[in-house]
Amino acid sequence: MWGIIATWRMAQEGISKASELLKDGGDAGDAIEMAIREVEDFPFYKSVGYGGLPNEEMEVELDAAYMDGDTFDLGAVAAIKDYANPISIARRLSKEKVNSVLVAEGAEKFAHKEGFERKNMLTDRAKIHYRNRVKEVQEQEITPYAGHDTVGMVCLDEKSKMTAATSTSGLFMKRKGRVGDSPIAGSGFYVDSKVGGASATGLGEDLMKGCISYEIVRLMKEGMHPQEACEKAVLELDKELKERRGKAGDLSLIAMNCKGEWGVATNIEGFSFAVATANEEPTVYLTKMVDGKCVHEVASQEWLDNYMKTRTAPLVEK
Ligand code: GLY
Repeated sequence: MWGIIATWRMAQEGISKASELLKDGGDAGDAIEMAIREVEDFPFYKSVGYGGLPNEEMEVELDAAYMDGDTFDLGAVAAIKDYANPISIARRLSKEKVNSVLVAEGAEKFAHKEGFERKNMLTDRAKIHYRNRVKEVQEQEITPYAGHDTVGMVCLDEKSKMTAATSTSGLFMKRKGRVGDSPIAGSGFYVDSKVGGASATGLGEDLMKGCISYEIVRLMKEGMHPQEACEKAVLELDKELKERRGKAGDLSLIAMNCKGEWGVATNIEGFSFAVATANEEPTVYLTKMVDGKCVHEVASQEWLDNYMKTRTAPLVEK
């Protein structure tokens, strides 16, 4: 059995490529890295890699992580600037016995030493988004902290190796140096090849409060199906946050177990995800919570066409 599941529609091209590799007996580490790089390289996805939205100082600071579920090798970078593929740097760091999670200049120094590709990740389109948002915030007093669509994935290969990985530009207009859940093990991702893996997207500050990816893997270890584990973890964290703090940020989780069964849960409307397994061609779903259960629906061709049209539409400066 093999499989790969990812947050958001933006992962579809990546998981399609990765599924070809997995079909041919490819490695879960190579497949997940390839899939995430595909998202990082696409300039129209504005929350990951090249074209990602900047922080309040108009700098693109990126977070990424990689974990191997066989060995528990784990590497991450946070607030890294000017490198094309943070996921590859995170994977390389996962091989280090110590110093495997690096931030900002330290991460950049490591990436330079290892010969990773340097790139200015701030696109003209992202600059327009930034300037528009500055104006909106001035005019309407809306919060600058909207838009945080991390790509998070879990992968299983034919040899039963599992991996998890994330990549994000984090919150739009975040404070310089702000780190979300995505490079934090247990919060943004976790994987154990004997059990399964999970990964998150949403408001990092709230996802971290529940160590939610680890919690889902723990529930799967107790015997829960990934769908049940995701629903329980998301509902409970959402409830706890509302009780203790008055509100809960966006929480969306994907998971796959070591049998290739998958699950997804969210507390928002319109969460999309992509999945491919030995039994299922790459498919994009939309999901929503109805009475404590997540109902998944295959995205229509119209929805998919509209998605790409809106992502690539010319952007007007306000
Ligand atoms: N979940 C991504 C972030 O909060 O940075």
